[in-house]
Amino acid sequence: MTTTSPEPTATASDADVLVDVRGLKVHYPITKGIIFDKVVGHVYAVDGVDLQIRRGETYGLVGESGCGKSTLGRAILHLEPATDGTVTFGGEPISTLTGEDLRRRRKDLQMVFQDPMGSLDPRQSVEALLVEGMKAHGIVRDAKEAEPRLRQLLADVGLPSAALKKYPHEFSGGQRQRIGIARALSVNPELIVADEPVSALDVSVQAQVINLMSDLQAEYGLTYLVIAHDLAVVRHISDRVGVMYLGGIVEEAPADGLYAAPLHPYTRALLSAVPVPDPVVEDTREQILLTGDLPSPAAPPAGCRFHTRCPWRQETRCDTERPQLRLVEIDGAGAEHKVACHWAEQIASGEIQPHAVAAQVDETGAQLAADAEAERIVDEIPFA
Ligand SMILES: Nc1ncnc2c1ncn2[C@@H]1O[C@H](COP(=O)(O)OP(=O)(O)OP(=O)(O)O)[C@@H](O)[C@H]1O
Ligand code: SF4
Ligand SMILES: [Mg+2]
Repeated sequence: MTTTSPEPTATASDADVLVDVRGLKVHYPITKGIIFDKVVGHVYAVDGVDLQIRRGETYGLVGESGCGKSTLGRAILHLEPATDGTVTFGGEPISTLTGEDLRRRRKDLQMVFQDPMGSLDPRQSVEALLVEGMKAHGIVRDAKEAEPRLRQLLADVGLPSAALKKYPHEFSGGQRQRIGIARALSVNPELIVADEPVSALDVSVQAQVINLMSDLQAEYGLTYLVIAHDLAVVRHISDRVGVMYLGGIVEEAPADGLYAAPLHPYTRALLSAVPVPDPVVEDTREQILLTGDLPSPAAPPAGCRFHTRCPWRQETRCDTERPQLRLVEIDGAGAEHKVACHWAEQIASGEIQPHAVAAQVDETGAQLAADAEAERIVDEIPFA
């Protein structure tokens, strides 16, 4: 599948941009065969993403399960090789770094995971977990030298210094996520990619961890890419939000602007599914029901990827021409609002009205996706 990437309409000056992603694609091959593997298709997990993250900001990335959020986050950190496109970090193209240069850069790019239990080695004490990265990057030589820094790190994330001698299973989920954050912070990173950092936590604990992340950002001037499927989490923490659908970003705007005036039909549908506490508003607000499942990323629809589910779909362009993410000038939308929809202006003005959408069954895509998943699971089973 070929898609052309447009000249990105960056609005931040180059000096503000810490991470610059251009035309990024990550395609996973789907193979079949008994003796020789034959490539029978691809999962287009990330398929042509342009994205700039500015120094000191929080960029929130939302979208349904399987739309490619984690793959994009991992590709930005160079943990996933790009099929095409570039990722530039602080002006340096990290997709081409190797060996010692890459290892040095890794220090600046850290990740916080959804499941802290899965990402923290249960056999290591908190002290060992925190010292490991600092030693690897030459920040300290041994645990003794690390001591003052360890105490500071624990204080920063709101844990007592007695926690150093304990093991991950001795903590609650929220405390473990604090350890995960301390570990990311331990090497003085510039960017933290937090992939669903609070979705495994109780609702009461989620706000505490989000607030902690905000405080640390202010204290250390960190830049965040926060990935979440929960729109409320992203809204609370983000300066700007990008909405992802089937491997591409379909809308991007400052957080308040996106929630106040969602322009892409997919974003409108996502937001219309979030209940509003005010009963009067709840009864009168727009509700858009999305028909059909998310198509398989192994066989994404041609043209606009959302056209199989879009209530505003038009007979021309929608199913033949892939819309690019572009700045729009629409009443009520801010200056930095970008949308990937051919008809954003006409939809916003009401010139184009929504209509019913019939569900479509995509058996080819579903089969390819099932094959890809089976292949992945087999690949992940370690040899005994
Ligand atoms: N290593 C891999 N090999 C093959 N396919 C993969 C691999 N990793 C991810 N995929 C597929 O790529 C697509 C995007 O996956 P990804 O994990 O990035 O989505 P996501 O938006 O993070 O979803 P979730 O919200 O469930 O975490 C999915 O269809 C997934 O099955
Ligand atoms: S381009 Fe067409 S199908 Fe895609 S979101 Fe806009 S109206 Fe809907
Ligand atoms: Mg994910």
